Amino acid sequence: MHQNSEHLRIVGGQPLQGDVTVSGAKNSVTKLLVASLLSPKPCTFTNVPDIGDVRITVELCQELGMQVNWDKEKGTIRCHTKEIRTSYIPQRFCGSNRIPILMIGALLARTGEDVIVPTVGGCKIGPRSIDFHIEALSKLGAHIELREMKKECAYLAKAHQGLTGGLIELPFPSVGATENAILAAVGAKGTTIIQNAAVEPEIVDIILFLQKIGVNITLDVDRTIRIVGTRHFYEAEHHVVTDRNEAASWGMAAILTKGRVFVKGAQHAHMITFLNKLRELGGGFSVRQDGIEFYYDGPLQGGLHLETDVHPGFMTDWQPPFAVMLTQATGASVIHETVYENRLGFTETLNEMGAQFSLFRQCLGGKQCRFNSCAHYHSVTVRGPTPLKGMSITIPDLRAGFAYVLAALIAQGESRLSGVPFLDRGYEKVVEKMQSLGAEVERVSITPEIPVPQGEHILV
Ligand code: EPU
Repeated sequence: MHQNSEHLRIVGGQPLQGDVTVSGAKNSVTKLLVASLLSPKPCTFTNVPDIGDVRITVELCQELGMQVNWDKEKGTIRCHTKEIRTSYIPQRFCGSNRIPILMIGALLARTGEDVIVPTVGGCKIGPRSIDFHIEALSKLGAHIELREMKKECAYLAKAHQGLTGGLIELPFPSVGATENAILAAVGAKGTTIIQNAAVEPEIVDIILFLQKIGVNITLDVDRTIRIVGTRHFYEAEHHVVTDRNEAASWGMAAILTKGRVFVKGAQHAHMITFLNKLRELGGGFSVRQDGIEFYYDGPLQGGLHLETDVHPGFMTDWQPPFAVMLTQATGASVIHETVYENRLGFTETLNEMGAQFSLFRQCLGGKQCRFNSCAHYHSVTVRGPTPLKGMSITIPDLRAGFAYVLAALIAQGESRLSGVPFLDRGYEKVVEKMQSLGAEVERVSITPEIPVPQGEHILV
């Protein structure tokens, strides 16, 4: 069970009103820091959020030799990795997020020395293997194997002949495998072509940064990325793209609580699929130059079919909070999760709160996904609207965590959410932002007399 010293106390029923500013994207800034390890020149990042995953990534990069000057007030990081001190990733960094595995590509590219990465964890949303990463990097001449080392299991990566550009055809547009391949390709001799690459806005953000530091890199319309390896780098400054997960989260909070919130910094171009589904559901929004206003526009209409997909499809990270929206919509709706095989477990807790979700192993939807022949519960139906009641909940991962926050914000009575560090990993000042919008929420320290609430999810 996940032990921590505090929980969130949320009393439902308050409509959220006001303005909120979206922070920089977790899934961009953490990778940008890793990408900056490729270069011996200084880099500056602005719009950096002070969140758990950035803190962990900064610590890891410092361990490897990066000098970091982080002005948290201004949201600026100046970093400089004159040389890499070690290519061994200490075990303590593995298991908290997926960043260590990207060090294989980055460190092989920068140093050519053997890289050791103890096996990683991340949120409990499926096995999340790294076979695509290994296949991709091996096309560039890396040899990666899983080894028992000093009582720990670790990936050992070598490229004793150096990396050489090559053709990588990803079996699935994996975000992490695309990033790892790009990082390695920067240090490879010649040109690398990645086909069926992920093209999420956060990947584009990394491409933009790499171009600034001197990499010749292109993104074609057919998911093909071309990278010409280089050893010649430039100093650069980069503004981190805003977080489309956070933007959607505040939008959903506004609509669900029957309020109105202007989400400053929400980028229309990154949220097209989300906004289409929102309109189908009857949620109100109005796009402005500097953000998007979300508002309750009458009862939500179900009968929706929601299928998650890689970008530009409906993002899997939007799915858990959107599922809470569907509990409040009239009629039956269907969700088909096609990115993760195991990202619907959170619906059991919502059922305990009063929702009516039913899980299915089959693909319920327009297409048969790669999980069709497996036994995974990756489709769910939901019937609404159903009132939800507050309860004690253990947060199992970041996105399910925000889904529970939303459920608690509209539930009757009080909810207590433990596992708050999961939320803090991805949402900057999450409690302060909710309070500023009028939510009745506070962090409460758990004293020994109060038992830590237990849910049925096992936490990393
Ligand atoms: N997969 C494999 N083999 C691999 C790599 C991936 O089978 O070698 C599978 C995964 O198990 C999963 C699917 O492919 O079923 C997608 O994985 P992907 O590699 O695209 O995801 P990721 O890089 O591990 C990132 C984000 C996730 C986000 C996904 C999809 C970061 C740190 N994480 O994960 O974000 O859901 O892309 O967009 O960038 C979050 O922010 O809460 C989060 C989980």
